[in-house]
Amino acid sequence: MTIQTSSTRLVFLFSFLLVLFSCGDKEKIEPNTSDLIPPSSVAISNISDNAFRVDWTSVSGAEGYEATVARDDSFTDLVQPYVDLRENGTGINVISLDTSTTYYVRIRTIIDGEKSAFSTTVNGTTLGAAGAEPTNALKDEATTFAVGMAVRVNNLSGQYDAIYKREFNSLTAEYEMKMNIMYPSQGNYDFTRADAIVDYAQENGMHVHGHALIWHAATPSWVENFSGTDQEFEDMVEDYIKTTVTRYIGKVRSWDVVNEAIEDGNGQLRNSVFLQRMGTDYIKKCHQWVREADPNVLIFYNDYNMVSSNTKRNAALAVVDQLIPEDLIDGFGFQMHISYNGPSKSQIANAAKDVTDRNLLLHFSELDVRANPDNNMTMLTETRAIEQQQKYKEVVEVYNAIPTDSKFALTVWGLKDNESWLQNFWGHIDWPLMYDDQFNIKKSHTGFLEGLQ
Ligand code: G3I
Repeated sequence: MTIQTSSTRLVFLFSFLLVLFSCGDKEKIEPNTSDLIPPSSVAISNISDNAFRVDWTSVSGAEGYEATVARDDSFTDLVQPYVDLRENGTGINVISLDTSTTYYVRIRTIIDGEKSAFSTTVNGTTLGAAGAEPTNALKDEATTFAVGMAVRVNNLSGQYDAIYKREFNSLTAEYEMKMNIMYPSQGNYDFTRADAIVDYAQENGMHVHGHALIWHAATPSWVENFSGTDQEFEDMVEDYIKTTVTRYIGKVRSWDVVNEAIEDGNGQLRNSVFLQRMGTDYIKKCHQWVREADPNVLIFYNDYNMVSSNTKRNAALAVVDQLIPEDLIDGFGFQMHISYNGPSKSQIANAAKDVTDRNLLLHFSELDVRANPDNNMTMLTETRAIEQQQKYKEVVEVYNAIPTDSKFALTVWGLKDNESWLQNFWGHIDWPLMYDDQFNIKKSHTGFLEGLQ
């Protein structure tokens, strides 16, 4: 057995202490492999009138980042949707910005759900090219009525999402809240797509205008070929209306209950399966069922050519006049599928007065303005773009001038020209809307803004 001298013991004690502290220190010496730090460098590039690119350096161990954009360096005037916007990569495109405006950007890192401090703030100023269209958000400028947009479930993301949130505070399903989509076969409801649009609107504080419970052109074939009795048909329609309206109580502000019930030309009731199976008071029955399902939802009648055809408008008003005394209608929708060269501003104003004189809400519900009604153009010329701008301005001026009690919403029927229903309907190219195929703002958007002045 070796005798340990005192020096040996000291060496052992020192070694023991060295190991002890170095173990303790070991945890302090080796840096954490994923330090929770912000990106060391953030840069803005590709600045245009309405957009720019932001890129930043990656951080070891980052599971993602959050980007925030504001109009001030204290980050109080935030730019939706770029508010703590999650991004797993190291860059984003910031779009739908105002021209000639300075924007401030900061990024932070996310590691294991924890967020780092903010990066240094960088800023960039969008261009204000001479003649660039103003990019003021429509919903911010229209202070007395909602500005609506027709949307599709597949387009509730990306640049569509950014523009919807920036410009609009009311949504209409372009086609996914119609009977052929929501009630594809008897006893089998499918609200998947309707729910998606309603949920998106709820998440973004937007109204939903329900369109359209009953429409001859979106009636499922099983309804067209219904084999039961008339009473069974009526019971089925009642169940469909009450099931649908009840589902969206408190989420859908208003419904087009029956759409386009008046024939073109003669002003008669359109000979739809609903007229055939339920009788001439089918519209009243449908409105009654909506009232019973949700006394608070607003009931609209909606139709086209309400300005250009006095016969058709007067026939629709005759139907409406039967409903008013029974409190079975709240508003009237003029679809407003018009052209750059008509109807005139005075025709639009006179037709609108027929509705507002009845103390009903008026909805310009599906506005688009054909720039190429004669199919004699292959591109939107500057001249025609200015004429279209003027027509948008006139429509908005008329709407903005109606009595406050009749103001409800002005809804544009689609975002980008190339996606308009008009391309297929007329079978030739047109540019009817406020954004072009690349999401750029057009002069028609400027016309809308001018109409609000
Ligand atoms: O998005 C799908 C696509 O994924 C699929 O490949 C394609 C082929 O099946 O269909 C696409 O959906 C079509 C949708 O338009 C989008 O293009 C639907 O089938 C088609 O039925 C739908 O047509 C709509 C139409 O009403 C019928 O619901 C139009 O978008 C819409 O603009 C039009 O709107 C009507 C108003 O509701 C009432 N006033 C007139 C107006 C124009 O007709």
